[in-house]
Amino acid sequence: MSVLPSTLDSTHPAASLCGNSPAPAVRTRALHVVPESRTLPTVVGAGLRVPTLHGETAYANLDHAASTPALETVKAAVDRALETYSSVHRGAGFASRLTSTWYEQAREEVAAFVGAREGDSVVFTRTTTDSWALLSKALPSRTTVFVFDSEHHSTLLPWGRFRTVRLPVPQTVEDAHALLEEALADHPSRHRLVVVAAASNVTGEVWPVERFATLAHQHGARIAVDAAQLSAHRTIDLAEWDADYVAFSGHKTYAPYGAGVLAGRSDWLDAGSPYLVGGGATRSVTEDGTTWATGPARHEGGSPNVIGAIALAAACSTIARHREAIEEHESRLLERLRAGLDEVAGVEVLSIFGEDSDRVGVVAFTVEGWDSSLVSQVLSVEHGIGVRDGKFCAHLLVDELLEDPWGERAATAVRVSIGLGSTLEGVERLVAAVARLVEHGTDGTWTLTGSGWAVEGTDPRDVEVERPW
Ligand SMILES: Cc1ncc(COP(=O)(O)O)c(C=O)c1O
Repeated sequence: MSVLPSTLDSTHPAASLCGNSPAPAVRTRALHVVPESRTLPTVVGAGLRVPTLHGETAYANLDHAASTPALETVKAAVDRALETYSSVHRGAGFASRLTSTWYEQAREEVAAFVGAREGDSVVFTRTTTDSWALLSKALPSRTTVFVFDSEHHSTLLPWGRFRTVRLPVPQTVEDAHALLEEALADHPSRHRLVVVAAASNVTGEVWPVERFATLAHQHGARIAVDAAQLSAHRTIDLAEWDADYVAFSGHKTYAPYGAGVLAGRSDWLDAGSPYLVGGGATRSVTEDGTTWATGPARHEGGSPNVIGAIALAAACSTIARHREAIEEHESRLLERLRAGLDEVAGVEVLSIFGEDSDRVGVVAFTVEGWDSSLVSQVLSVEHGIGVRDGKFCAHLLVDELLEDPWGERAATAVRVSIGLGSTLEGVERLVAAVARLVEHGTDGTWTLTGSGWAVEGTDPRDVEVERPW
């Protein structure tokens, strides 16, 4: 690992303080160099057992697209950082200097993880939603934003109604390309930004961001990539993609400590209004006015979430080291999941681009004749399986994929999502549970109440568990 320069110059993010003078960084080193590993990293709570109608069973975590568990390495890094926890860029004490150094090293780790180029900014945010809110505030005035209706609401909505060109849900990748090309040709403007997800949170389908980046640039537009569903599963590479911005969330990347990232071209970010006005975001404040910092500090007003940043850096480092093993594990489970669901009568898997499209481990489906909400409750209560149902904050896409002129189709879907907390046994249990539901119905007696589906008798999940504090 690189060692930070022993003094911070005025352009270093650590130098944009609340008026303090730049402090020398503590020299730190990696304790051991860990080679690329073929083993799978473990998650905290891997041995979790949960109550079901039939007694206790191992928890089958198939809900990684919502939030991932923490990695053991992330928890260990956080525990260690807490031993010397102190303020960031605000103190002369050893602990503060060490914490500040780690904060900036976390930024370097994340920069490497996203393939940032020389001069790119890496800003710590809270989540992907927060990253887009920041970028939307920093866009040059009158920027036109191009976004597909298939996006997650966090990526669809923050740009302002009057400067957004909305593109319909495409049928194929070629269709998406053509729709975007036509829209770019039809809406010339000085500043334009295409926003696209690298992987859909509904179908898991991977979008060809490199192709879209080329197209955007051919038309003089920039491109921002939503990597919320990619970061834990596939490589993010701003430089290789030739994309301008990328955002993702720590809580979907095995680092649920409240940090997210916006990385990319620094010119708009340095010229845009500071996202969080406050200490740390200023260079100087006088009666005559305020000079704002440039670099990440401009948008990171207030005391930063250093524990979140360290957690995220630890996750990035672990994922990068275990990349091959992670991809192998997930594609094996995804293959089994898709093959298994394929054989269950009445199950229909949602897809934008069609059967053969490349996907991360996210599969949304409906079961003919069964309310998706009931399916997910049955999976939990009767089988100890965690999934999600609904429209997944992508209403336009789910409505489109479920559209049925005769009104007989489901209104919502069930979503299974795979990650490091998932096992082959869990996937097989899910497939068997869905097949059992279709063939034999539910084990318990279920009624639809005002607050959703309820099983007759006591819900086995209503056990008393001690608070963690
Ligand atoms: C594709 C996609 N984009 C954006 C978001 C928003 O992420 P967050 O809730 O972490 O802000 C999500 C969350 O599910 C997502 O799946």
